[in-house]
Amino acid sequence: MGRLENKRAVVTGAASGIGRASAIAFAEQGARVVVCDVEATGLGETTELIRDAGGQVRSVVGSVSDPELVEDLVQQSVREHGGLDVFFANAGVSGGLTQLFDLQVEDWLSLLKVNLIGPFLAIKHAGRYMRENGGGSIICTASVAGIRSGAGSTHYSASKAAVINLVQTAACQLTGTGVRVNAICPGLIETGMTQPLFDYARAAGKEKKIGQLNPTRRAGQPQEIAHMALFLASDESSYVNGQACVVDGGLSASHPFVPGKLA
Ligand SMILES: NC(=O)c1ccc[n+]([C@@H]2O[C@H](COP(=O)([O-])OP(=O)(O)OC[C@H]3O[C@@H](n4cnc5c(N)ncnc54)[C@H](O)[C@@H]3O)[C@@H](O)[C@H]2O)c1
Repeated sequence: MGRLENKRAVVTGAASGIGRASAIAFAEQGARVVVCDVEATGLGETTELIRDAGGQVRSVVGSVSDPELVEDLVQQSVREHGGLDVFFANAGVSGGLTQLFDLQVEDWLSLLKVNLIGPFLAIKHAGRYMRENGGGSIICTASVAGIRSGAGSTHYSASKAAVINLVQTAACQLTGTGVRVNAICPGLIETGMTQPLFDYARAAGKEKKIGQLNPTRRAGQPQEIAHMALFLASDESSYVNGQACVVDGGLSASHPFVPGKLA
C-alpha cells in the first residue's frame, strides 16, 4: 500500500524540477493528482510520465496568481477525484539576480504575485475546503533564501521569508481544523530555475565546486525535495504543523567559516 493511498493532491509548478518530481512521487505512492503550471509542454510531459506509470492525473494550464484558477484547482480535485487532501503550492520564479538598487516596484509585484500570492491563494481555497471536509495538508515551497541572505535576489529572499511567516500564521488560523500548513526550504537544487548556473559551471569545468559550501558537499536533486513533500503530504507527518522544513545539505547549519580551520 502506498504512503498516499486514497489521497487527492494538487501540485503547482509541476512542469519541471521539484514540482514534477513531487507530482510523480505522490502518484507513485497512490495519490490521485491534479497538476498545474503556466508552461503547457512540460506539464504535458509530467502528465504523460504519471499516466504511463499507471497513475491518475489531470492537468490544468494557468497561473497560480489567478484566484479563479486556484479555486478551480480545488474544485477539479473535488469533482474528478472526489476530494482534496494535499495542496503543494510549489510554483515559483527566481526574479533574476538584479541588485537591490536596480529593482523596480514592478519587479517586486510580478515576483510576489507568484511566490507569495500563489501560496496565499492555495491556503485560502484549499484550507477553506479542507477545514470543512476533515482536514488535510498544505505545503508551500519557501527557500533557504527566506532564512537569511546569500541565496537569491532581495525580492526573491523577501518573498520566501514571507512564505515561512505565511505558513505560521495560516497554521494558527486553522487551529483545531485538522488542516496542517508547512513550508519546505530547499537549498541549491538542480532544476529549471538553477540550470543556467549548472550549465555555466560545467562549461567552465567547475562542476565539482557546486554545493561545496554545505557539509554534504554537493547540490541537491529534485527528488530529495520531493521526499520531504511526500512526508509532509502523508499522515507520517501528522504532528508537524506551522514549520519551515529545511532540506539544504546542511548549508544553513553554520555561520560562514574557513573549511579545515574550524569545525
Ligand atoms: N532550485 C532551487 O535551488 C530552489 C531552491 C529553493 C527554493 N526553490 C523553489 O522551488 C520551487 C520550484 O522551483 P524549481 O526549482 O523546481 O524550478 P523550476 O523552474 O524547475 O520549476 C518551477 C515551475 O514553476 C512554474 N511557474 C512559474 N510561474 C508560475 C505561475 N505563475 N503559475 C504556475 N506555474 C508557474 C514554472 O513554469 C516551472 O515549471 C520554487 O518555488 C522555487 O522558488 C528552488
